[in-house]
Amino acid sequence: MQVVRLAHETDFDGWRQAARDLRARGVAPEAALWTVDGDNSLFRPADADLEEVAGSPPKPGPGATFSVPKAFVDLAGRAILHRSDERFALLYRLLWRLQDQPHLLRIASDPDVARAHDFASAVGRAAHKMKAFVRFRCAFDDQGEAYVAWFEPAHRVVAATAPFFARRYANQRFSILTPDLCVHWDRCDLTVTPGADPADAPREDALEDFWRTYYASIFNPARLKPKAMQREMPKMYWRNLPEAGLIPQLIAGAEARTTDMVRQAPSQPSRRVVKAALRNSRDAPYDGMAPTSLEEIAAGVDHCRRCDLWRDSTQGVTGEGPPRARLMFVGEQPGDQEDLAGRPFVGPAGQVFDRALEDAGVLRAETYVTNAVKHFKHELRGKRRIHQTPNPGEVAACRWWLDGERRLVRPRVIVMLGATAALAVTGKATPIAKTRGQALQLPDQAQGVVTYHPSYLLRVPDEAAKAAAYAMFVEDLRLAWKLAA
Ligand code: URA
Repeated sequence: MQVVRLAHETDFDGWRQAARDLRARGVAPEAALWTVDGDNSLFRPADADLEEVAGSPPKPGPGATFSVPKAFVDLAGRAILHRSDERFALLYRLLWRLQDQPHLLRIASDPDVARAHDFASAVGRAAHKMKAFVRFRCAFDDQGEAYVAWFEPAHRVVAATAPFFARRYANQRFSILTPDLCVHWDRCDLTVTPGADPADAPREDALEDFWRTYYASIFNPARLKPKAMQREMPKMYWRNLPEAGLIPQLIAGAEARTTDMVRQAPSQPSRRVVKAALRNSRDAPYDGMAPTSLEEIAAGVDHCRRCDLWRDSTQGVTGEGPPRARLMFVGEQPGDQEDLAGRPFVGPAGQVFDRALEDAGVLRAETYVTNAVKHFKHELRGKRRIHQTPNPGEVAACRWWLDGERRLVRPRVIVMLGATAALAVTGKATPIAKTRGQALQLPDQAQGVVTYHPSYLLRVPDEAAKAAAYAMFVEDLRLAWKLAA
């Protein structure tokens, strides 16, 4: 048996070096035992110790000159951050098998491949939650103001996620303290120190009040869905969130606030916007009728008669998200559930979209999500409403609203989800498979990224092809997020 002692729990370099060495010497996965050094020090050099425990040394194997695909290195780099004790051995087993099965990673149903992907996805979700739920509190030391947060991540994602916070809060000193390790940003460098005690995190200060006020102001009682809230903000994170204390109170007052909102809501859009909405001309220029706010667009969409799709749908579904989002997603049109809910991407395609956003580390709440066509085109089959693709005339008619959203939000990057979105944004037919995965320059200064539509990912019949398409989709989302940063 070969025992490998890695320097610490996320010692990827040590794991790679040891795995390469074991593989070159022909040590089978069953004969390797992976452990982490007792002192668990992240500050030791990352070279693993190999120790012979029993039996004669293995002979050099045929894997001496063996190389692995980059996709495996990426997958292993993420999966290794999972808390499972199994991860080092699982990854070594995959590495071992890759020599005889170079396309192993494409077999999504293989138990080892599936498990590694599950680990990587769980790690992606943990990183996503960390980006969403870390809350800083103001503290002072001899150098002045600094921000401190306490967080308990589900997996060991702290070091990997820290650069995100350094980019976002480049001008503030901060520390994120966790039981695994702590990261510190001094406006110049990120440093790492051993895990902290919860008592080190300051508890009360003005920043908490700020967060409470902010959270209460963005809370929309009309959209109160406690189960969905819990799914997005699992209870295990609540104790670190100052605003979580407000949740019971907000839920209790939701009904009265909804009634109040309905009473206060403007029921009619301006006459100018209604006039534009009723106009049946496709290429009407912005001759003084252009919507001047996203609220006007939302109201105008619901009055829209620029094509006939309004007749059979419940309501017009406008985009949603921060009014100055850097990243805009454009889908095709609302589906059955979106038509009923009045919100984009909340049905089955929305679930795939949300999962892929999480896997790509994209925060949906920071993006603007809309559709090329704002009414649901469908045909009735019995009681079921079956989706129909909008035709180019309907896409052209609805560009009035999409162009308005683009003009007002002015995103840095627009992601076109599928062919209809690409037609609406670029004005021409665009082959997705050939164009995806790259940044395109759009005339309005934004960059464009074309990718698959999430519904397409649900329809791919073959499991391996489906997994491959999903991976490319996630890659495209990651690219867009990076371009928008
Ligand atoms: N498909 C889309 O293109 N948009 C939605 O909002 C839902 C499904």
